[in-house]
Amino acid sequence: MKSFRDFMAERVREYYVSPEEKFSSKGDFFTAPELDRVFGESIANFLYHRLKEFESPVILELGAGRGLLARDILNYYGKEDPDLLKRLRYLIYEISPALIEVQREVLSGFDNVLWVEEFPQIEGVVLSNEFYDALPVHVVKEGKELYVSDEGEEVWLSLEDERVKEFLKRMGYEDLSQRVEVCIDCVDMLERVARALTKGYHLLIDYGYTSEELPRFQEGTVVGYKKHSLRGDIYREGGMDLSAQVNFSALMEYGKDFGLRTVLFDSQRNFLASIPHFLTELETLSFDESPESVERLSRLKTMLISMGDRFKVLFQSKGL
Ligand SMILES: C[S@@+](CC[C@H](N)C(=O)[O-])C[C@H]1O[C@@H](n2cnc3c(N)ncnc32)[C@H](O)[C@@H]1O
Repeated sequence: MKSFRDFMAERVREYYVSPEEKFSSKGDFFTAPELDRVFGESIANFLYHRLKEFESPVILELGAGRGLLARDILNYYGKEDPDLLKRLRYLIYEISPALIEVQREVLSGFDNVLWVEEFPQIEGVVLSNEFYDALPVHVVKEGKELYVSDEGEEVWLSLEDERVKEFLKRMGYEDLSQRVEVCIDCVDMLERVARALTKGYHLLIDYGYTSEELPRFQEGTVVGYKKHSLRGDIYREGGMDLSAQVNFSALMEYGKDFGLRTVLFDSQRNFLASIPHFLTELETLSFDESPESVERLSRLKTMLISMGDRFKVLFQSKGL
């Protein structure tokens, strides 16, 4: 028997460490950087003036997948401001040895990329796309915590974890009569991020909710994905990507403890629609009728429309 948190941590680790293809049509899911290079370029455009201010700017990316976001950001700076590219160091924190191999290959043209296991002290930006949703959650309901038996059955036991109790109190969730997911690992990650930033920013893009939206998820938000479809039996079926939506209210609230100030919190749609590079590309593609441009335009629309509301963007600053 183990807590759902430990069960999810084990499953996610097994999943990402295994060498099977996870991304694109051959794998289990598409992420925005996999859809089109404009996603990474737009993030680079958004961060440009802020990064330029630092003498030795650093980007630290958490959970870099196939390295496409890193590639598109670095290519953008290489084109727009080669001097910034020369000054920039790009660090990657990644759990999967198989994906690190892919990242090394994809990023082999850049000599300023390094892989880290600990977060060094940096001035710059810590960023991630679909990383926090892979961190494990405690699942609680009405004073009980969810455990998983060795046979894959759900078992509810009295909630004893003091940090989980404290979280429920602080977030005002104590009296809710629904499943609530508590991501203490997210809070700990946020603290690590804040400690790493001497000064700079934290940019987090993921699907998630706020406290006000919690009633929409009476049965929680944990899902298992395999080959682009939702799986029913997350306990007995292996080899799938388990994730839980990110509680953005909690990250904004706990961020205050670590000196992280919320600068911006919005949907991915509004975020992208506010970035000049994204709008220019959207306009250029909409005037071009070549099959490639039509295909790319539809991918950009996916980022704006079907992903646009589910995905949210949190941008926090520290020491600025
Ligand atoms: C859903 S993928 C997203 C990849 C990429 N950011 C993208 O948008 O395409 C999650 C990434 O986080 C990594 N990851 C998951 N859990 C992690 C952990 N605890 N520590 C470091 N990396 C982790 C995975 O190996 C993978 O690269």
